[in-house]
Amino acid sequence: MENKDLKELYETARKWTLEAGERIKHSLTDTIEVEYKTSAADLVTQKDKEIEQFFIERILNEYPDHHILGEEGMSETTPADYQQGTVWIIDPIDGTTNFVHQKRNFAISVAIYRDGSPLIGCIYDPIEEELFHGCKDNGAFLNDEKLPVLTSCSVEEAVISFNHLWVVPNEKVDYEKMQQIVLDVRGVRSIGSAALEIAYVACGRLDAYLDFRLSAWDIAAGIVILNELAGISTTMEQEDVDVFNLSSTIFIRPGLDEKLTSYLL
Ligand code: IPD
Ligand code: CA
Ligand code: CA
Repeated sequence: MENKDLKELYETARKWTLEAGERIKHSLTDTIEVEYKTSAADLVTQKDKEIEQFFIERILNEYPDHHILGEEGMSETTPADYQQGTVWIIDPIDGTTNFVHQKRNFAISVAIYRDGSPLIGCIYDPIEEELFHGCKDNGAFLNDEKLPVLTSCSVEEAVISFNHLWVVPNEKVDYEKMQQIVLDVRGVRSIGSAALEIAYVACGRLDAYLDFRLSAWDIAAGIVILNELAGISTTMEQEDVDVFNLSSTIFIRPGLDEKLTSYLL
């Protein structure tokens, strides 16, 4: 891809993400229509669908040969093979429960992958007006500020985040090992938006974020951003995260990764 084309695509992704954020922000006083997806803890609103549609219309119009993978499944151009071509991976609202209950702590997550590899990532918190973004080999930014490369820290110094589900018996991870992590780290947070939690690792507000049941749209943009900062995206078994085929996911400072994953082996 020509540098000029990449720059333009990156600018377009950021522009549309900011625009989508403004739309959500201006609708916060509207009545939110909430539906259950699989349970009362798995919500979708008309805003999620509207924002996904906003991206689909623009992408199809501007880049008709690109594919789209959106959480709400509203695009008809979902690719048969993610390893080929250009794919937009979109979570229109990541943190829908926060959006409904708190009207904050949610984000729009937009990634562009080319031939299966991370290329562009944008995560926008419209309430805080924070756009985390990155483009392969071009660094990562919080708004206009370039983010510094991440360095290691010890387990005792680490403030990490994960969902409370992982410290009670569950099917994904040994909860007793997770309890030991809780006892050893400096602090544990649970924000409720995977995209924001990865963005917070990228900018140093968190040292690690762990989850065991995420989807491509939750993490694709965050991976692009972390890659630019030497951040690690790994699994419990210390394998590379396969965005299109997920198991466990750990987003973490370099050097802390082995120390923390050793708890889970
Ligand atoms: C959810 C959030 C949440 C994570 C869930 C995701 P959604 O995304 O990122 O923090 O724990 O696994 O599904 O449904 O709000 O887009
Ligand atoms: Ca999500
Ligand atoms: Ca969502």
